[in-house]
Amino acid sequence: MTGYSRQVEQLVGEMTLPEKLGQMTMLAASLVVTGPPGPDNPVTLVQEGRVGGLLNTWGHDEIREAQRVALTQTRLKIPLYFGVDVLHGHRTIFPIPLAEACAFDRDLWRRTARLSADEASRDGIQMTFAPMLDVCRDPRWGRISECPGEDGFVNAEYARAKVRGFQNDHEDKKRRLMGVAKHFVAYGAVQAGRDYAQVDVSERALAEIYLPPFKAAVEEGVCGIMPSFTDLAGVAMSAHRALLHDLLRVKWGFNGVIISDYNAIAELMLHGVAADLAEAASLALKAGIDIDMMAGAYENGLPLALERGLVSMDEIDACVRRVLHMKEQMGLFEDPYRGLETQSPGPDVMPQHRAAARDAARRSLVLIKNRGELLPLPRSIKHIAAIGPLADRQSELMGPWCMAGDERETVGFLQGLREVFAESEIIHAKGAKVEGEIEPQLVAQAVAAANASDVVMLCLGEERQHCGEAASRTRPEPFECQLDLARAILATGKPVILVLATSRPWILPDWLVEGSQSILLAMFGGTEAGRATADVIAGDYNPSARLAISWPFNAGQIPAYYNMRSTGRPHDPNNGFSTSFIDAPVAPRFMLGDGLSYTRFELGSLQADPLVIDESSTLHLSIDVQNTGGRAGEATLFLFIHDPVAQVTRPSLELKDFAKADLNPGQSKTIRFALSADQLSYPGLDLKPRLDDGRIDIIVGTSAHGRDQKRVSVEVKRKS
Ligand code: NOJ
Repeated sequence: MTGYSRQVEQLVGEMTLPEKLGQMTMLAASLVVTGPPGPDNPVTLVQEGRVGGLLNTWGHDEIREAQRVALTQTRLKIPLYFGVDVLHGHRTIFPIPLAEACAFDRDLWRRTARLSADEASRDGIQMTFAPMLDVCRDPRWGRISECPGEDGFVNAEYARAKVRGFQNDHEDKKRRLMGVAKHFVAYGAVQAGRDYAQVDVSERALAEIYLPPFKAAVEEGVCGIMPSFTDLAGVAMSAHRALLHDLLRVKWGFNGVIISDYNAIAELMLHGVAADLAEAASLALKAGIDIDMMAGAYENGLPLALERGLVSMDEIDACVRRVLHMKEQMGLFEDPYRGLETQSPGPDVMPQHRAAARDAARRSLVLIKNRGELLPLPRSIKHIAAIGPLADRQSELMGPWCMAGDERETVGFLQGLREVFAESEIIHAKGAKVEGEIEPQLVAQAVAAANASDVVMLCLGEERQHCGEAASRTRPEPFECQLDLARAILATGKPVILVLATSRPWILPDWLVEGSQSILLAMFGGTEAGRATADVIAGDYNPSARLAISWPFNAGQIPAYYNMRSTGRPHDPNNGFSTSFIDAPVAPRFMLGDGLSYTRFELGSLQADPLVIDESSTLHLSIDVQNTGGRAGEATLFLFIHDPVAQVTRPSLELKDFAKADLNPGQSKTIRFALSADQLSYPGLDLKPRLDDGRIDIIVGTSAHGRDQKRVSVEVKRKS
């Protein structure tokens, strides 16, 4: 008894070895390119039964044609499945994950995943290579844009929300996207932020930071897992049996499919752990990988590996069963053209998705500085200059994974400003290219535009090619020509709203931060980025996002993050022999949780019940938050813990929960949190969860900074 259906068993019984290996192979069609080129026409390979699923293709005609071939021209007529990187939208593009994480809003995370699934499924897709859960503290890494930030807990909460939104929320099976959580594990810790480089993190870091998001995805029922390209302390992840098989499959009980990354199995040879394709394929199979994406390693390597006795047919059959079972779960045997009965979606045909994208972008936008309350601007303002290389760019705002997104459907900052400030004169000047030589004539036009205006919206940033995969930078900072432009604009003395359209935290010069009166961290906000930004500038939306990633002062501070462990010589500005830099602060420039609102929130005292807990207790916490300013707004509250004495050093703050509260002026609400004793425990010396007797501090605040934080201490007294 294998626990699989009769259909699955019957098919496995009838299949030849090449047919089995075909089901274990995923190939790229060429609609978009997300790796080295694949076969010119994968559909001919489908015909030969050598492919079980395709990636990088969608749309009625493409999917119907490929599926028709599989169903009519192959011996067993097993339907294909189709997978695409739907990370932050399919046709309607939502903010990049690093930006959307800043909303600290589980409902939003879930909603945008659900809408993406809805759109992608109508384009014939059943699988997304998402959510991406690579906790990252290194802005040099281009892929930081794809992840929900620096904190393991935030990544875990994001994982749950995304898996629900992609897979679980849809009653209608054909609207579901099967999630593939990636990249297992610790890819975000590549050395020096250099993509595909080695990873060497401790077992403790895995247990505390990098594994919990994947555990959360598995608990939520994620259907797939993708190992990362990298090695982990010398063991290539595509061959990591201890993590893929022993931990993921056996200990966590994951029973979905494990899909290799693009060509990753063949790359085991380049990692220097396999002498040939047969060895590479057998290592991956033994580790637990069911599906080979683009390496041809299973097809070409496993027959040889069988001959050499490196693998058994039972091991191959186990993978084939999982793949066929997955296809059953997707509903493909009942309806191979699943989802295609309606028109392909587009933002034009789905106005409610556009509205959702505008809402998502507004909720993701962090107001980090607002000197003299320059923002919001009054509608009566006469002249606004929209300056900078990103002021009138659409395609960049779509971010790295905008597969079916259409830049013509994307609203840039200039257009957004023009629509929202319809009565004002908007003077546009590019001022500089994104990168390259300074062009004095462009700068002069921009200075003239600034001089003719009451206020400047200065839009600096990156291009899409600067972010995502294979886009590591040793200097994650504004390009020189953009700095020259900024200097010239600041010199006009006009108030400047700096809008940063970046995919990653940027190292900003002090003069730029000090000289700009307001700073909006817009990052890449997707289809409606421009309108959302204008909504915030006009005060039609009161910003509520908070940073999910710290922004260092300079690259030498990397990694800079909020929850560093305690040291024996804690930072003390009056003590030269305490942990510090002699040329920079220890804390990042902007920290997790930083962000402003147009109103003010005040916190009451933090109450805990009970004050003495044991290993079976649930700790209830409550705190009042009041809007003491003049506008309605949404407060974001963070709940941290600190364990002052433990077996191992603990971080000064550990995020355990967060909550939002929508408040009218004067209104107050009581926010309640509950923490189980498990959530107060930590991995002990043996890495097993441990709760010691003694004090634990609970801290609630509006950021990871000390200001506005409220504390209460509880006592742990274990029964046993
Ligand atoms: C390589 C990337 O690492 C992965 O994230 C992506 O899903 C695949 N290419 C497919 O595009």
